[in-house]
Amino acid sequence: MQLLQLLAHCFCLASLCQAAIYEHFSSVPSSESYDFVVIGGGTAGSVISNRLTENPKFRVLLIEAGPSNEGVLSSIVPGLALELAASPYDWNFTTTLQKGLNGRAISFPRGHILGGSSSINGMVYTRGSSSDFNRFAAVTGDQGWSWNSLQPYIFKNERWTPPSDHHDTTGQYDPRVHSLSGMTYVSLSGYYAPNSPKMLQVTKELPHKFPFNLNMNSGNPLGLGWLQFTIGNGSRSSAATSYLGPKFAGRRNLDIVLNTRVTRILKSKSVGGDRNVFRTVEIALDENVASRRTIEARKEVVLSAGTIGTPHILLHSGVGDSAELKALGIIPHLHLPSVGKNLTDQPSAPINFATTSNNTDSIFTNATLLAEALNQWNQTKTGPLAVFGGGGFLAWTRFNSSFFKTMPDPSAGPNSPHIEMFLGTNTNNLRQAADAPVVSVTVVTLNPISRGSVTLKTTNPFDDPLIDPAYLVDDFDVLTLREGAKAVARLFSAPTWKGYVLGITGGFANATTDAEMDAYFRNIASTTSHPVGTALMSAKGSSYGVVDPDLRVKNTTGLRIVDASIMPFVTCGHTQAPVYIIAERAADLIKEAWM
Ligand SMILES: Cc1cc2nc3c(=O)[nH]c(=O)nc-3n(C[C@H](O)[C@H](O)[C@H](O)COP(=O)(O)OP(=O)(O)OC[C@H]3O[C@@H](n4cnc5c(N)ncnc54)[C@H](O)[C@@H]3O)c2cc1C
Ligand SMILES: *[C@@H]1O[C@H](CO)[C@@H](O)[C@H](O)[C@H]1NC(C)=O
Ligand SMILES: *[C@@H]1O[C@H](CO)[C@@H](O)[C@H](O)[C@H]1NC(C)=O
Ligand SMILES: *[C@@H]1O[C@H](CO)[C@@H](O)[C@H](O)[C@H]1NC(C)=O
Ligand SMILES: *[C@@H]1O[C@H](CO)[C@@H](O)[C@H](O)[C@H]1NC(C)=O
Ligand SMILES: *[C@@H]1O[C@H](CO)[C@@H](O)[C@H](O)[C@H]1NC(C)=O
Ligand SMILES: *[C@@H]1O[C@H](CO)[C@@H](O)[C@H](O)[C@H]1NC(C)=O
Ligand SMILES: *[C@@H]1O[C@H](CO)[C@@H](O)[C@H](O)[C@H]1NC(C)=O
Ligand SMILES: *[C@@H]1O[C@H](CO)[C@@H](O)[C@H](O)[C@H]1NC(C)=O
Ligand SMILES: *[C@@H]1O[C@H](CO)[C@@H](O)[C@H](O)[C@H]1NC(C)=O
Repeated sequence: MQLLQLLAHCFCLASLCQAAIYEHFSSVPSSESYDFVVIGGGTAGSVISNRLTENPKFRVLLIEAGPSNEGVLSSIVPGLALELAASPYDWNFTTTLQKGLNGRAISFPRGHILGGSSSINGMVYTRGSSSDFNRFAAVTGDQGWSWNSLQPYIFKNERWTPPSDHHDTTGQYDPRVHSLSGMTYVSLSGYYAPNSPKMLQVTKELPHKFPFNLNMNSGNPLGLGWLQFTIGNGSRSSAATSYLGPKFAGRRNLDIVLNTRVTRILKSKSVGGDRNVFRTVEIALDENVASRRTIEARKEVVLSAGTIGTPHILLHSGVGDSAELKALGIIPHLHLPSVGKNLTDQPSAPINFATTSNNTDSIFTNATLLAEALNQWNQTKTGPLAVFGGGGFLAWTRFNSSFFKTMPDPSAGPNSPHIEMFLGTNTNNLRQAADAPVVSVTVVTLNPISRGSVTLKTTNPFDDPLIDPAYLVDDFDVLTLREGAKAVARLFSAPTWKGYVLGITGGFANATTDAEMDAYFRNIASTTSHPVGTALMSAKGSSYGVVDPDLRVKNTTGLRIVDASIMPFVTCGHTQAPVYIIAERAADLIKEAWM
């Protein structure tokens, strides 16, 4: 039994295996047929594939463009995550020239590997605020998306586990809101920078500005608290390691095909008067148009290619704004003008402070230190590589502004922060060797007002789409970064930092006016990698939107979308936990439809 599972996991001997992992679509026997075809073995697609195959009557094919996650060291060792950028595991996208960023184009990472972006991300675990999900429920008219209704799905996803250094975690988290029985490991950090106690001291010295929050994942993130990660035993816990791990390779009703790009979803023959049946998936064996194959799902196609991949595939399939498609030379099949629109991502920027710390040697600039750290990780799964970004804390805050007198507050509600401060307290983990040691804090605009788009450059599905997140186009988005910088300055004004953190340094140091601050941000702001909204859900019958609240593509039969693209607003935090939660509920919606 164990040997068979091993075989199933490593090679693909379809006749021998139970579940099969195929390295290439040409190895999938043409005699195979499937109830569900899931496009994209990323965060959401892995959840869907796992949950649907809990029903032995459902046969599922999962198609992933990237390679396996197995044995990819930089995806396993948390502290090596930065090595995944611009690697074979990254789609290597670049944005269009960004007007709000002084005309810069920036790189825009996306996972190209089993597990998708969960296999390359920063592993930060934040659920968002209760108002985020209550707003989903309000705009879709489906109470099933409310915070309270989603609690079982949060618990089905999360498997709380001790940190790898087994330190005493009492008072660092609230066990009542965590689940021990889910799939993806979540833990506190197994390593903290030496100055961590100072960060905690801030909550005692400035309790009104930075109240201690025992659990930022309780529905109200506001305050400062201990950061939680999708890490178990000092190793990354991704959608691939958790939902597609060896335990599930034994399922004979799940086939996974890697290194295979889906190019389009084709209209199938209509049966029984169903309109717009989209159940046929077109696959490319290589870039030659002649190499295209198709496979038809008996029940449904689930599109989980992510916020970029999903609209990319839909637009090539003729699902989008008909006039825009026609202008490109693509035959429109379904007029859904919201496809690829409303792209929303959180811009962020570092604020650096000079420090008297002499701990300047970085594991990323000193090969001896890196080798030592890797050895420590290998032996005990502890040390600076057991976590990403130096362990640490997150702080979340709101601000008041005259802006709110003229414009509605874009946050989801009073318990939703406007600003995140990612408190990387440790110079040791900064990849760029600082000339002088710095303590760096990343500030994030959590509720940007700017909306961008994903559109097609050409009719060739192998060409990257045009990705325009419209960073800092709306003044509110840059105003939030300014307020963030002020909040960070307040944080370091706490007495505990005296003699340790000096003053703001680097490009921001001389910025005193709003205009100077804005200029700094426009020169340095980047992506937080939390794009959503390009296939957003709206109420049934709504004048806009791509999917209904049950995630079926509007006015179609046989096609659903389950990934970050369906979020109508970005949640006030990092997006992987929300994607897991959405996918867990979506799996139930699909199962119920085919009882
Ligand atoms: C660098 C980075 C850091 C991040 N850090 C964090 C963090 O610390 N915490 C956090 O909560 N969130 C983080 N995020 C965001 C989070 O990881 C994503 O929101 C989430 O994983 C998205 O899930 P998804 O299912 O929508 O898409 P993905 O997980 O990206 O899955 C999409 C999958 O579809 C595949 N695909 C795409 N097109 C095709 C095609 N044509 N044919 C076949 N397959 C295709 C892709 O290869 C991919 O595997 C980060 C993201 C990135 C990229
Ligand atoms: C991304 O770029 C790197 C470096 O150029 C390259 O090695 C890698 O193969 C690229 N990724 C993909 C998916 O093509
Ligand atoms: C962690 O590793 C230990 C020893 O290798 C193992 O017994 C345990 O099951 C692992 N726990 C998790 C959460 O993976
Ligand atoms: C974008 O989303 C908003 C709701 O947030 C909606 O009113 C608008 O119509 C959407 N735009 C498109 C092009 O779908
Ligand atoms: C600087 O290094 C010395 C010796 O390693 C150490 O004793 C001292 O505490 C360090 N200073 C700071 C501020 O970290
Ligand atoms: C790298 O770190 C080692 C171990 O701390 C130290 O002995 C060595 O001097 C460092 N090398 C450089 C170039 O700083
Ligand atoms: C971990 O240690 C084992 C032997 O103890 C060795 O074979 C392996 O290469 C090491 N891995 C890393 C990443 O250093
Ligand atoms: C904003 O102002 C309101 C009303 O004056 C006040 O109740 C609230 O606490 C303020 N919020 C912040 C973050 O300062
Ligand atoms: C800030 O201003 C001072 C004095 O004008 C100048 O010497 C310094 O180089 C400036 N720093 C930066 C980072 O621009
Ligand atoms: C769906 O089809 C109906 C009937 O043809 C039409 O009125 C409606 O506008 C369509 N909705 C969308 C989102 O295309």
